[in-house]
Amino acid sequence: MELESMPKFLENKTILVTGATGFLAKAFVEKILRVQPNVKRLYLLIRASDLESATQRLHDEVIGKDLFRVVREKWGANLDSFISKKVIAVPGDISYENLGVKDSKLRNDMWKEIDIILNSAASTSFDERYDVALGINTFGALHVSGFAKNCINLKLLLHVSTGNSCT
Ligand SMILES: NC(=O)c1ccc[n+]([C@@H]2O[C@H](COP(=O)([O-])OP(=O)(O)OC[C@H]3O[C@@H](n4cnc5c(N)ncnc54)[C@H](OP(=O)(O)O)[C@@H]3O)[C@@H](O)[C@H]2O)c1
Repeated sequence: MELESMPKFLENKTILVTGATGFLAKAFVEKILRVQPNVKRLYLLIRASDLESATQRLHDEVIGKDLFRVVREKWGANLDSFISKKVIAVPGDISYENLGVKDSKLRNDMWKEIDIILNSAASTSFDERYDVALGINTFGALHVSGFAKNCINLKLLLHVSTGNSCT
């Protein structure tokens, strides 16, 4: 795909991003909101016990960061309504089947709507406990792949990792 056609491709698309509180995916989210504000929706899977805590993490650890300064300046007083229209925090955990998304209506909506998945969730600690690392980096990738198979409109699944990055 030509680089200049990427923003066009993202127009009106619904994207699931895992690992959005992390280094790479946060930059991805910022860039999309900056260069393609006509993206339809971003579902951000965030580890949290419930929707309220996931939304809190979204504001504290993603949108509230200095990285989003340009987006904040562009939207000014309309930032909150822009973000709430475009970005949905989803409490979940890729170590579990269905990415730990417990709300079945939300899960079904996601399966219907999602066009693109970016899996950037990972344990990046080199001295993580073996079972924990296996649960996230290996079974997590499997669960993302299983979730993707239910997304009836999926066009692209991008898995990012140090070991491999593939589509
Ligand atoms: N950074 C780089 O320069 C670089 C270069 C090449 C490849 N990579 C690869 O890209 C991927 C992301 O790297 P990064 O630097 O962005 O990592 P990071 O800053 O450590 O972020 C990891 C993200 O994954 C989330 N996460 C961890 N376990 C999860 C789980 N079970 N369920 C849902 N989310 C979970 C973390 O959420 P919490 O906030 O809840 O912990 C965090 O948002 C990794 O696979 C890494 O190896 C990174």
